[in-house]
Amino acid sequence: MSMVSQELINEIRSSVDIVDIVSSYIPLIQKGKNYFGVCPFHDDNNPSMSVSKEKQIFTCFSCGASGNVFKFIMDYENISFMETLKKCADTSGIPLSVNIKSNQDTFLKNKELYDIYDIASKFYQNNINTANGRLAKEYLYNRKIDDSVIKEFGIGLALKNRDLLTKLLLNKKYTQKDLIKSGLVVENNYGLNDIYYDRIMFPIEDLTGKIVGFSGRVYNGETNYKYINTKETDIFKKGEFLYNYSKAKASARQKGYVIVMEGFMDVIRAYTIGIDNVIATMGTAVTKNQAMTIKKMAKEIILCFDGDEAGAKATSACADELVKIGVTPKIVRLEDGMDPDDYIKKFGKDKFLSKIDNPISIMDFKLSYLKNGKDISDSEDLASYVNSAIKELEKIDDEVLREISFKKISLESNLDIDFLKERLTSNKKEEETKTQTKPFIKKDKYEKAQENLIYYMLQSKEVIKLYNKKITYMPNDKYRFLAREISLYYKENQKFNLADFMTAISNQTEIYNTLSYILSLNLNEFYSDVEIDDYINVIREYNVNYQVNRLKDKMKKTSDPLEQAKIAEEIKKLKIDING
Ligand code: UTP
Ligand code: MN
Repeated sequence: MSMVSQELINEIRSSVDIVDIVSSYIPLIQKGKNYFGVCPFHDDNNPSMSVSKEKQIFTCFSCGASGNVFKFIMDYENISFMETLKKCADTSGIPLSVNIKSNQDTFLKNKELYDIYDIASKFYQNNINTANGRLAKEYLYNRKIDDSVIKEFGIGLALKNRDLLTKLLLNKKYTQKDLIKSGLVVENNYGLNDIYYDRIMFPIEDLTGKIVGFSGRVYNGETNYKYINTKETDIFKKGEFLYNYSKAKASARQKGYVIVMEGFMDVIRAYTIGIDNVIATMGTAVTKNQAMTIKKMAKEIILCFDGDEAGAKATSACADELVKIGVTPKIVRLEDGMDPDDYIKKFGKDKFLSKIDNPISIMDFKLSYLKNGKDISDSEDLASYVNSAIKELEKIDDEVLREISFKKISLESNLDIDFLKERLTSNKKEEETKTQTKPFIKKDKYEKAQENLIYYMLQSKEVIKLYNKKITYMPNDKYRFLAREISLYYKENQKFNLADFMTAISNQTEIYNTLSYILSLNLNEFYSDVEIDDYINVIREYNVNYQVNRLKDKMKKTSDPLEQAKIAEEIKKLKIDING
């Protein structure tokens, strides 16, 4: 896995405290021995994740995610194991020099694509600084984007000729197939041609900061397509990225909030006035995937979309997506249909910052959004407004915010607050009867015995010893593989530390998943010897039955009475074994 020794890895792991680390990302509340928080790895909206100070692991009882401190940081920040290790070592002041390359696997598999985007980006950036880039530069200067910002965001230019990048890449010995796969080159009647020509080019990075595509903007003359984005490839999935993510990440965490905008230019403009904890969704559609990434960026989220009607709609949709995954964003709306870029240019830094410092609550936004175009002095409009407002309130978990909003709606509509509350509860009941309960899958006793035995092997080396002594074979593959790893790890190390064991098996995905599943069973912390004996006996019983059945089959196949007697004897012995 790495050049760093297992001992050093374990030393680094135990030098940091998982509770400190996790609580630097998400709020944790102590309940008894453990700490609980909203799980960042699924669409959680109540605290399902437990963090154990004693065991130095986290477990989500809802989605089954689990791991040690390394796993948490890797998954939260989308960074590689080595980067995570380095981070923890730095925190503790342990010297560690490693060669950090993120996400090696996808990187190596798609190396040509990454290289092509890198070359293209350098090429475009060079173009904009040549004489042929003069017009594009003027366009940007006119929009108050100066050279330092152009450089900072890697803004470039695709020239008018339609084959420059194609030729450059072919000269560098990339195949026609790779060129087309990259989405930067197309094959048409004239042969191979660049997709982008005469456009200002914005590189788009994935969550680790590698360029995986571009968006090209027209800058002289009109066309129907203001921005053209690279088509989706194996590594470019627009719905998974956020513009400026890797730059904004650290600052968003440090400041405790992230600002979400729609467009490239909005983010770039914000950057020019010193706001760097800002990202763009690159349009008005926000996917669940993007929402999950935004959720992980900071504790507070401020949506600042365009001030027009489309922006209001996008604000509402994005807010819903975030509420579904347990986050209540705050909202900033800009006047007169302006987008952040327009607004900052027109009113300047201070006025924009004061907007950001005074966001409105999601319910205040929703109420005014719902009132839009309605005349609430008209009874029908008023009824429709109140009904939809109550529907919105159903989504909100924050009780204080709910109470305040009830008061507001009651004032506006002149309806009794208790009546409004009654409406909400009856809606909720209707919903609940609609959603059916999941079918309960009954596990057989053998499966349960294996799961429970492994659960306690993870808690105590005494149970591992018993397993070694008494169990030769776990019936189910996945449990057999995991139990074998635990047993081996114990034999090699003469001790068992769950958090370090997790590092050791982190590359064996299936075994790791079984482990996570077993931990999420959340069994009673204490066990009795009798209970463990029970599990062991059940598993042995399974094995005996299995052998007995095989022997019976064998008996059926033979007609030799001597042979039959021998088999019968064997069966009898096995049965005594299990009962005695
Ligand atoms: P806007 O139309 O609001 O663009 O689209 P903008 O940010 O104000 O751009 P400028 O100021 O005219 O240059 C918002 C975002 O939606 C995506 C882009 O990410 C854009 O920044 N978009 C828009 C596209 O991907 N394609 C389009 O054709 C238009
Ligand atoms: Mn815009």
